[in-house]
Amino acid sequence: MKKFLKILAYIVGALAVVIIAFLIYFNSTYPKVDPPSNEKVEITPARLERGKYLVQHVTVCIDCHSTRDYSKYAVPVMENTYGKGGEKYDWPTAQVPGVIYAKNITPAGIGNYSDGELIRAIACGVTKDGSALFPLMPYMNYSQFTKEDLYSVVAYIRSLQPIQNEVPQGSIDFPVNLIIKTIQPKSFVPAKEPDRNNPLEYGKYLVTIASCSDCHTQMEKGQPIPGKEFAGGFPFQLSGGVVRSANITPDKESGIGSWSKDDFIERFKSMDPIAYPPASVDPKEFNTVMPWTLLAGMSNEDLGAIYEYLKTLKPVSNTVVKFTPNK
Ligand code: HEC
Ligand code: HEC
Repeated sequence: MKKFLKILAYIVGALAVVIIAFLIYFNSTYPKVDPPSNEKVEITPARLERGKYLVQHVTVCIDCHSTRDYSKYAVPVMENTYGKGGEKYDWPTAQVPGVIYAKNITPAGIGNYSDGELIRAIACGVTKDGSALFPLMPYMNYSQFTKEDLYSVVAYIRSLQPIQNEVPQGSIDFPVNLIIKTIQPKSFVPAKEPDRNNPLEYGKYLVTIASCSDCHTQMEKGQPIPGKEFAGGFPFQLSGGVVRSANITPDKESGIGSWSKDDFIERFKSMDPIAYPPASVDPKEFNTVMPWTLLAGMSNEDLGAIYEYLKTLKPVSNTVVKFTPNK
C-alpha cells in the first residue's frame, strides 16, 4: 500500500511539473506576435477627417469605447464621453465568458502607447505589455484595414479629448483565457486599397471593418455557426428583455431580400440623431444595440456599397424573433 502511494505521489508530482512547464512555455510563447514596429503616424488634416469618419460612423470604435445612454432609443453615445471606456461586457449582455471592459482610448488612457504599439493593439489584439485582448474588440476585422485607414484611425484617436477614467481589469474564464492567446494575427499586413468603383469589393471592405457580421451571426463556442453568417439571431440582454440581431442576408421572407437600395439607405438615414433626436425608451420596452445613430452618418455611397455587397450573399432562411420581453 505504502509503495502504491509513493508511486502515486511521483506520478502526481511529475504531472504537476509537466503542467507547470507547459504553462510557463505557453505564457512565454503566446500571444505569438511580432514586436511593435517603430513606424510613426504623421497627423495630417486628411487623416484626421478620414479617422473621425471611420471611428464615429463606420468602425464605430466610440460605440463600445464611450458611455451609452440606455434610456434612449438605439442607446446613443453620450457627448463628452468619446473614447473614455468603461462599458462592461459579460455573458448575458454580449456572450463573453467572463467579464471585460472597453478600455480608455483617449490620450489619458493610451497616451503612453507608441504608434507601433497602438497599431499592434488595434490590428493584432495585443496590449502594450503583450497581453491578449478578447476578440469582442474586433481586431480580427481591423487586421484587414488598409494602411491609410488604420493610420487615420490612430491619428484621430490621438486627437480625442483626454478623459481621466480608470477602467477595471477584466477576466476571462478558463480555458477561453488560454485559447484567446492563440488567435492573434502575427503582424499587421495592410489590405490593398479597395476599388471604390467596384461596390462589391468596396462594400465587402466596409462590412468587414464595420464588424456587421460580428453582431449579425449567431455563435457557438465563440465561433460563427457555419452557414449562418449574416443570418441574425445573436442575442443581447438589455433591461427590458433579449434583443436579437436581424437577418441581413438577401432572403426574401426573413432577410432584406425585398428591400431596395433606397429603402436600405433610408433606414439608416432615418436614425440620424441630429435630424431625429432619439426618443426616450421605457427600460421595460424594446430597445436595440444596433449602432443606428452612428452608422446613420455613413455616406450614401458607402451605405449603397454595403447594400450591394450584402445582396451578393447567399440568402439564408432564418426568421428571427427580434425581442423577447423579460417575464
Ligand atoms: C464591439 C466593441 C468594440 C469596438 C467596436 C472597438 N473596441 Fe476596442 N476594445 C473593446 C474591448 C471590450 C476592449 C478590452 C478587451 C479586453 O480587455 O480583453 C478593447 C480594447 C481596445 C484597446 C486596448 C487598450 C488598452 O489599454 O489595452 C485599444 C487600443 C482599442 N480597443 C482601440 C479600438 C479602436 C481604435 C477601435 C475602432 C477601430 C475599437 N477599439 C473598436 C471593445 C471594442
Ligand atoms: C452591436 C451589434 C450590431 C452591429 C455592429 C450591427 N448591427 Fe445591425 N442590428 C443589430 C440588432 C440587434 C438588430 C435588430 C434590432 C433592430 O432592428 O434595431 C439589427 C438590425 C439591423 C437591420 C434591420 C433589419 C430589419 O430587418 O429591420 C439592418 C439593415 C442592419 N442591422 C444592418 C447592419 C449593417 C449593414 C451593419 C454593419 C455596417 C450592422 N447592422 C452592424 C445589431 C448590430
